[in-house]
Amino acid sequence: MAKIIGGIGTSHIPTIMHVFDTHTNTGPYWEPFNEGIKPLRKWMKEKKPDVCIIVYNDHGSNFSLKNVIPFGIGLANEYLPADEGYGRRPVPTFQGHPELSCHLAEHFNEKEFDVAMSFELDVDHGFSVPASILFGEDCQEWPCKFIPLYVGVVQYPQPKGNRCYNLGRAIREAVDSFPEDITVAIVGTGGLSHQLQGPRAGLINQEYDKKWLDGLINDPETTKDISLTELIRETGSEGAEAIMWLTMRGALNKNVKTIYRFNHTPVSNTNYTTVILENE
Ligand code: DHB
Ligand code: FE
Repeated sequence: MAKIIGGIGTSHIPTIMHVFDTHTNTGPYWEPFNEGIKPLRKWMKEKKPDVCIIVYNDHGSNFSLKNVIPFGIGLANEYLPADEGYGRRPVPTFQGHPELSCHLAEHFNEKEFDVAMSFELDVDHGFSVPASILFGEDCQEWPCKFIPLYVGVVQYPQPKGNRCYNLGRAIREAVDSFPEDITVAIVGTGGLSHQLQGPRAGLINQEYDKKWLDGLINDPETTKDISLTELIRETGSEGAEAIMWLTMRGALNKNVKTIYRFNHTPVSNTNYTTVILENE
């Protein structure tokens, strides 16, 4: 049977993609970040998951305002990095796991979760930056297969935290019932606090983020019910991306061990935060 071996949360800031791809993540600005992500790479090297499910939001690269969908899953054999204005990222193509994707899609249907199915999908920085953070910026071949799990965060109204969390529960059930003996890591991306536009541009709220992450780890049943209004008021409009961490958390046990937790701010406009959680 398949098994979830851990959950990872990480911000997915596009500046990281730029400095990785141009090898300019050097100097005092980047050193703390470079050091801080090392344990993630170590964990990945040791655990070697067969599949990473990356819960991410597209930023208008693949999905446009023509169709705004709350949830989507990739079912393709492979996914290309999206062209976000500077050409496709020079990273390897992401190989998919269509069998597990189909199993997930069937289970979502069984649980009366409406999740759009994408048989062709370009993945933007929301997906590819976490992959580079986890596996290295010079990765010549990704060491695992990937499943993109899309959450519509950029257009109000976003799905409520509770629904994102319950989607995570459905992912857990589906993985647990997948008959192949494979290991799966689930990655929640985005956040934590940042606001990119308007009079509050530049907002970062480390104190609230810390409290929220404590709650996500130790009391997810309460944290999932924090309203989007509160999350956006406290952590900025793009802080809403934290709902994708709830999907990751929903796929884990009630009790989890924190294997690693790191915070460094600012990275670009964001309170860069990452965590590794394993089931107790
Ligand atoms: C930034 C962070 C994001 O999550 C994003 O999607 C775009 C920009 C930033 O901090 O600059
Ligand atoms: Fe983002």
